[in-house]
Amino acid sequence: MGFGGGKIILVGEHAVVHGTPAIAAGIRRGVSSIARPADQDSLHVEPWGRTWRPNAKSEEPLERAFERILSRYADRPPLRFVVRVALPPGAGLGCSAAIGVSLIDAIDKALGVARSRAELGALALEWERFFHGDPSGIDNLASALGGLLCYRRSSPPRRISPKGSIFLVVAHSGQRSNTKEMVARVSQRLAGSPEWARRALDEVKTLAIDAEAAMCSGDLIALGAVLNRNHEILRSLNLSTNRLEALCREARSAGALGAKITGAGGGGCMVALAAEAEHADRISGALAAESFVEEVGRAA
Ligand code: PMV
Repeated sequence: MGFGGGKIILVGEHAVVHGTPAIAAGIRRGVSSIARPADQDSLHVEPWGRTWRPNAKSEEPLERAFERILSRYADRPPLRFVVRVALPPGAGLGCSAAIGVSLIDAIDKALGVARSRAELGALALEWERFFHGDPSGIDNLASALGGLLCYRRSSPPRRISPKGSIFLVVAHSGQRSNTKEMVARVSQRLAGSPEWARRALDEVKTLAIDAEAAMCSGDLIALGAVLNRNHEILRSLNLSTNRLEALCREARSAGALGAKITGAGGGGCMVALAAEAEHADRISGALAAESFVEEVGRAA
């Protein structure tokens, strides 16, 4: 069985595409896949009830991505993959990366290929490129490695060991987010105002450093303030929606120490920081949306 986890970005989405550090946490729910010898290659995804074939010329990114990954394995039997997706697609939780990681893990296991989780995550970037125009690499690495990570483009990810567990509430706006479109929107905005862009990216870099320091010293109030400020920057990039704003407000009124968009935005999920486990349950219960609580920061 291959597995790729989902992820939550706590600080630095979008800015990470442009070279600043970001902090992400792997989550328990994700994608599992099984690969078995068959008459021809195919990829069946549950619960979507659809089957794809590898095809380098297909209009469907998934078929091109599938072909690219299979081409990495010479002299192999045809394989049928059954993939179970337990993440909402287009929600900012890294669904596409988790599918890629889980598929590669399943092929490796079926063919007896030995590869570290870090190598697996790196190979999954090839898969991600078919879905995002310009993926930073954070989703595929967080999916493969799990745990809490600081990542900067083109550098190996670094594990963060917080002082204690961090309880997060993730709520879905019910709107679908399109990462490719949002990444292009942000790049355009940054290119249009270089001086503003430099200041915003510098600030996100400082927020990532502050967030790590707050996690390591157990200062959840400071961490919450970082999340709120990062949300303001994402909002100024036009990545929020009325629904995401309402969810952030509701979470803060219910006691969250901070709340922000997570992932590409323009829909998808928001993440809120709780002071402790019971608070997280209370916040989750107060939100008028599909939500779940995630404990992050335990040794992966
Ligand atoms: O919305 P998601 O899960 O695809 O996350 C995208 C994260 C971005 O920073 C917006 C893009 C990237 O490649 O880092």
